[in-house]
Amino acid sequence: MTLATTPAFDPDDLVPADLPEEEEDDALRRDAEAGESSRASRLWWDRNADEYQDEHGEFLGDDRFTWCPEGVDEAEVRLLGPAEALRGAQVLEIGSGAAQCSRWLAAQGARPVALDISYRQLQHSRRIDLGRGAEPIAVVQADGSVLPFADGSFDLACSAYGAVPFSADTAELMREVHRVLRPGGRWVFSVTHPIRWAFPDEPGEEGLTASSSYFDRTPYVEQDAEGRATYVEHHRTLGDRVRELVGAGFRLLDLVEPEWPEELEQTWGGWSPLRGELFPGTAIFVAERG
Ligand SMILES: C[S@@+](CC[C@H](N)C(=O)[O-])C[C@H]1O[C@@H](n2cnc3c(N)ncnc32)[C@H](O)[C@@H]1O
Repeated sequence: MTLATTPAFDPDDLVPADLPEEEEDDALRRDAEAGESSRASRLWWDRNADEYQDEHGEFLGDDRFTWCPEGVDEAEVRLLGPAEALRGAQVLEIGSGAAQCSRWLAAQGARPVALDISYRQLQHSRRIDLGRGAEPIAVVQADGSVLPFADGSFDLACSAYGAVPFSADTAELMREVHRVLRPGGRWVFSVTHPIRWAFPDEPGEEGLTASSSYFDRTPYVEQDAEGRATYVEHHRTLGDRVRELVGAGFRLLDLVEPEWPEELEQTWGGWSPLRGELFPGTAIFVAERG
C-alpha cells in the first residue's frame, strides 16, 4: 500500500487560507446531512486543532493510547487484543487527531495508518514526529465514512472519539470499516456515552438535570449567520449503535462504560469528577468483524 504523508510542518501556516472568518455562531438542534456535517467538521477541526492540542496534548501524551477523558489507557485494558495481536498488525486509526494512539501502536510493533478529515490535525502529527526525530506516522486526510482503501486492507481498526460522533451516517461508516477489515479483525471505538445527550453539556451542577430526551436523535448544530453548520455532533442511542454494528456484520464483544477514577481531578469540557461519579461519560464499543 502506498501512502501519502503530509508536507513539512510550517508553524506560520496556522489556518488554511480558504477558511471563512470566524463568527459568533448559534447553537441549536436541527437536521444536518452527511455533506454538511463533513464540511463543518473539516473546517471546525482545522480551525480548532491548535487549541485542542494545546489544551489536551499533555493529558493525551504524544505516544499514549488514551480512549477517553476518564483516562482509560490501551496499555492497561488491551481492548484491541493482547500484545502479540498488535505485532506486525496493519491498524487503521479513524479520526486520529495528532495520531497519539497510532504512535503508541507503532511502538508496539504495529503498522498504523492515521486517518483524519482535518489537515491541521494531521500537521500536528507531523509536528510531534519532527520534534522527536522519529519515523513519521503514515497519515491520510479523508472522511471516515468514505475510506480510501481496498477491501480487507487492515487487521484492526480503532477510533478514540474520532469520526463517529461527528458523522451523519454512522451505519455507512460501520459498513466502510467492515469492508476494509480482514475477517476476525477488531473494531474498537469510543464515543460520548449516549445518556449524556439528555443532559446539558456542562461540568457543574447545571449538567446534572436532564433537559432533553435521550431518544431525540436530532443533531446538535452550531451555525453561522447564513445558517451554514460550523460544528455538528450526531446522537445515537445505545440500541442504535448495537444495531448499526450488527447490521454492518460485526459481533459485539464488549461495551465498556469507564468509571471516573477517584484520583482524576481534571475536567474536559462537560466531563468532570462531579458528573463522572454519577453517570457514565464514555461508551467504548469492542466489536469483531464476522
Ligand atoms: C475529539 S477529536 C479526537 C482526536 C483523537 N482521536 C484524540 O483522541 O485526540 C475528533 C477527531 O475526529 C476528526 N473527525 C471529525 N469528523 C471526521 C470525519 N468525518 N472523518 C474523519 N475524521 C473526522 C476530527 O478532525 C478530530 O481530529
